[in-house]
Amino acid sequence: MPQRRPSSARWLQEHRDDPYVAAAKRDGYRSRAAYKLLELQTFPKEHRHPGMASGLLIQPGMTVVDLGAAPGGWTQVATQLVGPRGRVVAADILPFAPVAGAEIIVGDFLDETVARQIEAALGVSGQAQVILSDMAPNMSGIPCVDQARGELLAEMALQFAETTLCPGGSLVLKVFQGSSFHTIVSQARLLFARVKLIKPRASRDRSSEQYLLGLGFHRSSSTPNTIGDRHADHSAGLDI
Ligand SMILES: C[S@@+](CC[C@H](N)C(=O)[O-])C[C@H]1O[C@@H](n2cnc3c(N)ncnc32)[C@H](O)[C@@H]1O
Repeated sequence: MPQRRPSSARWLQEHRDDPYVAAAKRDGYRSRAAYKLLELQTFPKEHRHPGMASGLLIQPGMTVVDLGAAPGGWTQVATQLVGPRGRVVAADILPFAPVAGAEIIVGDFLDETVARQIEAALGVSGQAQVILSDMAPNMSGIPCVDQARGELLAEMALQFAETTLCPGGSLVLKVFQGSSFHTIVSQARLLFARVKLIKPRASRDRSSEQYLLGLGFHRSSSTPNTIGDRHADHSAGLDI
């Protein structure tokens, strides 16, 4: 029988000991990631923005876009929170099993036609009150390539939020430390009344991921598409 590599043995042990893995099994969530969104849903008072009465990110009846949704943990949480009057559009490059109450779009978010498909699924307004992006690149194992891909996904999600969020809307964006980290945070500060960086307890310590929480979206004529049209030139960034 082949020996397990120490890294995969370590991963298995960590997986077995992980309270969020056990909780996901118990609560019927497809991923431990569900607990990150549940934590971000009830962010502390000091992170709220004026006029945000309930302090809840996702409220019944809202329209939510979930980018990088597979296997569907965040989608399950979002559909539960918006309830039957709400709408959830979930997209991933990988196919995943349907989630009741969500419309699923399979395709590469970096492909402009996929972004247009998501907008079309939002109905007549083409807008959402909350955009979630938990997108992370499917790892190539080459650190600089994976980092560049992760940054590009975050930039593209922020650009999508800029064109798709309705006034007052909110963004949850997975970001990694890297060369464009500060640019993304500064761009978000131009677009939202409040911007916070949060590391949920369910996010593993060894992961450099954090979540940028943007509250109170206020696109104005003074901040036209601040990231630029990356759909037009992203292929240059991917071919590394
Ligand atoms: C951390 S997982 C998301 C977990 C999910 N939020 C959950 O709760 O189950 C990151 C996801 O990003 C997706 N992803 C990576 N690159 C993508 C792309 N270009 N377009 C769409 N999804 C992408 C991956 O396929 C993966 O499913």
